[in-house]
Amino acid sequence: MAKKIGVFTSGGDAPGMNACIRAIVRCGLQRGFDMFGINDGYRGLLEDDIVQMTRHSVSEIINRGGTILGTARLPEFKELEVQKKAVEILKRYGIDALVGIGGDGTYRGLAALSKLGINTIGLPGTIDNDVGSSDFTIGFDTALNTIIECVDRLRDTSSSHQRCSIIEVMGNRCGDLAAYAGLATGAELTITPETPITKEAVIEFLRQQRAEGKKHAIIIISEKITDVHEFAREIEARCGFETRAEVLGHMQRGGTPTASDRVLASRMGVYAVDLIAQGLTSVCVGIVNNQMHYYDIEKAIELPRHSSAEFVRMSTMIG
Ligand code: F6P
Repeated sequence: MAKKIGVFTSGGDAPGMNACIRAIVRCGLQRGFDMFGINDGYRGLLEDDIVQMTRHSVSEIINRGGTILGTARLPEFKELEVQKKAVEILKRYGIDALVGIGGDGTYRGLAALSKLGINTIGLPGTIDNDVGSSDFTIGFDTALNTIIECVDRLRDTSSSHQRCSIIEVMGNRCGDLAAYAGLATGAELTITPETPITKEAVIEFLRQQRAEGKKHAIIIISEKITDVHEFAREIEARCGFETRAEVLGHMQRGGTPTASDRVLASRMGVYAVDLIAQGLTSVCVGIVNNQMHYYDIEKAIELPRHSSAEFVRMSTMIG
């Protein structure tokens, strides 16, 4: 009897998830597996929202942002009773392996299911690039390019008006989006969770910049550090530098995936199915030094997140 493989996306959506679903479904079918899509992450799994997928289910999606399977956050999935219900549903469908695309929370859910006897594989799909077992996550490159486009636009108006722009980007306590964007846009200052700086030091820095004749400034800051609107008012009041704050928000998560994300997602999808064919599960997939790798999913969760402090140091040198 053909092996049955379930695939789902979970947590925040990320551009490239569709390319990954496509690769998993097409590669699975190619290997003679029966492929099932689970809608809306762990929530859909618990609601029995599972559909069989064909080649055509994943046609025309490689270029689309978001996820055709839908996604959700389900904090209750931490509870054992909830996990057991998911196991019962998966067993009822006869699912031999479950592939989840998402971030930290998705991996934790997969690790729990694996302990309860389900064969699982995790793939890193999140714009945050905060999965320690992979150099890059699916969606990071697209979100970064979106941020860069926005910052370039803001620089035009900020320099015309001789203003300071403080731009908050996502990352969920991982500074990679901010650090890479700071380097790529020539920001004057980049503030991330890994490279904290006091408000006093920021104000002193801007005063110095003004004294040196600098007429405008771009500050990129990771989310969850401070209220940027309030901070903009403080900068303006204390340095006399007219300041505007922008929170880029969810626009960072949308849009057509870049070539890099499509390629990464497709490679990871094919690799995951290859692992299933070899009988390897309870693992997650990562890219390290441009090579596909797999890790024990339990250990991967404990790995530290990336630190892009070095990128911030470099951008400070040349900003
Ligand atoms: O994990 C992706 C992410 O976009 C984070 O960068 C952000 O903190 C969070 O999700 C926002 O979550 P929500 O879409 O639930 O508001």
